[in-house]
Amino acid sequence: MKGYMLIGGRKVFKKKEIEILFPYDNSVVGTIPDGDAEDVKLAVDVALKGFEKMKELSAFDRYSILSKAARILSNRSYEIAELLTREVGKTIRESMGEVGRAVNTLTLSAEEAKRIAGEEVNFEAAPGIRGKVGFYRRVPLGVIGCITPFNFPLNLTCHKVGPALAAGNSVVIKPSENTSLVVIRLAEVLIEAGFPPEAVNVVTGYGEKAGDALVRDERVRMITFTGSVETGKIIMSRGGLKKYAMELGSNAGVYIDEDQSEKLGFIAEKVCRGGFALAGQVCISVQRVFVHDSLFDDFIGKAVEFVKTLKVGNPLDQTVDMGPVIDVQAADRIMEWINEAVSAGAKVVCGAKRISDTVIEPTILIDIPEDVRLFKGEIFGPVIAVNRVTSVEEAVEKINLSRYGLQAGIFTSNLKAAFKFAKEVEAGGIMINEIPTFRVDQMPYGGMKESGIGREGPSYAIEEMTEIKTICFDLS
Ligand code: SIN
Repeated sequence: MKGYMLIGGRKVFKKKEIEILFPYDNSVVGTIPDGDAEDVKLAVDVALKGFEKMKELSAFDRYSILSKAARILSNRSYEIAELLTREVGKTIRESMGEVGRAVNTLTLSAEEAKRIAGEEVNFEAAPGIRGKVGFYRRVPLGVIGCITPFNFPLNLTCHKVGPALAAGNSVVIKPSENTSLVVIRLAEVLIEAGFPPEAVNVVTGYGEKAGDALVRDERVRMITFTGSVETGKIIMSRGGLKKYAMELGSNAGVYIDEDQSEKLGFIAEKVCRGGFALAGQVCISVQRVFVHDSLFDDFIGKAVEFVKTLKVGNPLDQTVDMGPVIDVQAADRIMEWINEAVSAGAKVVCGAKRISDTVIEPTILIDIPEDVRLFKGEIFGPVIAVNRVTSVEEAVEKINLSRYGLQAGIFTSNLKAAFKFAKEVEAGGIMINEIPTFRVDQMPYGGMKESGIGREGPSYAIEEMTEIKTICFDLS
């Protein structure tokens, strides 16, 4: 499959190309152009024209086009899901789930297009002011740069592009070089549905070249990015005066309280699903589990029992539960972190073995020292670290021992413990009797501390992607 950049609706090819590999066996899925600063400059030139064209569309037009895009995507679900599996390596069931969510995210964005509004400003509330009336409106920013990750290339691109277009902006998308083909399909769907081709542009290539040029372009009014903390910081240091939405890393923690013994099988299964979905490559994967000491051994027994039922292998096989990680470098790093934890005293209860270059067995470690990368960093692989605690206070303290704060969870029947946890854990989302991996696309989603800036979810993203214009009439 030969990929291309999409600039003003035109397919742009380049001699220099990047190969996209199927993470399961490294077979070639296709190629994409190795885009550079010149391509980005052209895409932004075009997107500025696209922004002018977007001004001709009413809110209802934007609603209708986004709704049509959702329908087109839904009609092409299986084809898009298969491409997702080939690029990301997620299982075909996971890919079908992602397409369904992307359809929903576009639909939610469509609905929000009709709700964008300001409100009256009470000018006369200031001393001495008479005869002034007015209001503020929310207006689009202009060109928005969307830098999107490999793990949910379709839905997380919809989370950026959907609200941006709903609010009347134009976009230049720089997808992950691992998973660009599916993003090109999405852009084509948006244009087919009726957006001006100049408003939806895709430049493929590496972050250091294409991504860097997009970030540095002063005409780009906002960068919305999902990826690592390190890259997020580089983007903000290079991008200068523009708006930023940053959805960064996490090492999500969950606590299982002492009163949960009857539900332990159910919870262990949920926790494992949250740790091993997409081979652990979800920003809100369950990574750190804190179990009340009285339930610890029982919990581990039930978790291992569940892991034995998981089928690991080729993600194109409908019966497979977990596939590979994105590439061999990622697998090398994950194994290094596992080995580091084991050398420091952690114990392996299952997994910790590599089945192939990119497939790692679902892994559970216990008694993890707090100074190893597996505890402090973001593993982004199929590994769950389980430690004992003796109270909700201790669980809160341990969960907060992290530079991240995206989502966290607690299983308890104790209302006081739940409230304490919700109040004191430093995270953008707190799940009570649910794993931190829980997300529905309309909810506010984003992190505290180094997990990010801003919130996604179409209605919240639209606030970030618009600015306020105040209009005041003097009627005296
Ligand atoms: C993410 O990995 O940040 C997104 C998780 C999700 O949308 O479920």
